[in-house]
Amino acid sequence: MDLLAEAQKLFPYTQAMRRDFHLHPELGFQEFRTAGIVAKELQDLGLEVTTGVGKTGVVAMIEGGKPGPVLMLRADMDALPILEDTGAEYASQNPGVMHACGHDGHTAILLTVAKLLNGMKDELPGSIKLVFQPAEEGMGGAEGMIKDGVMDGPKVDYVLGLHLWNEKPLGWLGVAAGPYMAGADEFKMQITGKGGHGAQPHTTFDPIVAGAQIVTALQSIVGRNVPPVETAVVSVTTFHGGDAFNVIPQRAELTGTIRTFKPEVREMVLRRFEETAKGVGAAMNCQVEVQFFHTAPATINDAGITEIVQQTARRVLPESHVDEGNMITMGSEDYAFFLDKARGMYFFVGSANAERNLIYSHHHPKFDFDEAALPRAAALLASAAVDVLQQA
Ligand code: NI
Repeated sequence: MDLLAEAQKLFPYTQAMRRDFHLHPELGFQEFRTAGIVAKELQDLGLEVTTGVGKTGVVAMIEGGKPGPVLMLRADMDALPILEDTGAEYASQNPGVMHACGHDGHTAILLTVAKLLNGMKDELPGSIKLVFQPAEEGMGGAEGMIKDGVMDGPKVDYVLGLHLWNEKPLGWLGVAAGPYMAGADEFKMQITGKGGHGAQPHTTFDPIVAGAQIVTALQSIVGRNVPPVETAVVSVTTFHGGDAFNVIPQRAELTGTIRTFKPEVREMVLRRFEETAKGVGAAMNCQVEVQFFHTAPATINDAGITEIVQQTARRVLPESHVDEGNMITMGSEDYAFFLDKARGMYFFVGSANAERNLIYSHHHPKFDFDEAALPRAAALLASAAVDVLQQA
């Protein structure tokens, strides 16, 4: 079957779904409306649907006509707390919430893939597990679904997923083996000193001064502890302390993010982070408590599965530029939790269009993508699914 032609035929459906999700964005774990529409669309195909997986996730199975492995396809459904500034006719009607990462597109793409694969299920040598995930944006949506057993019953053998990618133009595809997106840890730090009068600093242990030195000292981890040929990021992104101009506060709080690829680099960075914060704090007579939250491991694509998808991409979208080079990004993606449990890969579909001014980055208030990327992405994901079932 020519899945690209079929996906093009389904474009009005895909576009209508995408625009509806874009009009009505929902934050992580609040995707009730979105999940309801997803469940209904899948039920209309005659599929057995499970809702409430990992709170607001939706799962459905397409049983192939021939025996074979179980391949999971995953889309994320959540939006971001951003006030939309695109001026699009389908702009968010939920002020302060916006599909600024393209997850509206991902959900519409996977619904389209469900139609494509369900239409040829008798030919499929194996089963497809369709997974619509909540709360990808740093809230633990993937982990919640895994805890609720999404990788079991039936056990998932392979996993595929994609991201629309506005850093690259329509026609570009990023299909590379190996490390792709960084692992992420969020940190919270509490610095406790001794408050007092702003004019009598000698009677206090100032957590603001300690915090300022800690922020500076943390910069030496990447500069002086991480080997120059490795990579890591340490970013302090919030610094809160004090309520009055003439009072030295009791406490200050810092939060931020740490990005790494290799487990050994991650362990070292977290250890040095805690040592540095506590050591500098102690020198300033302040106590420092640090908490880490592991948001996502690194996304590392399986070489064998990636090779299959590269061949699929060249066959299905022959006019495309299939970029097999490793475009390492320090962004992270909680899809990596699924990749930790099953062989698979994650690919990127270029979606920018400079002529139409669709050039803004993900998470920007003006972010929007070229919808011509939708049928391309659906055709590639559906075709790759068939090829992985047949060849992996
Ligand atoms: Ni995203």
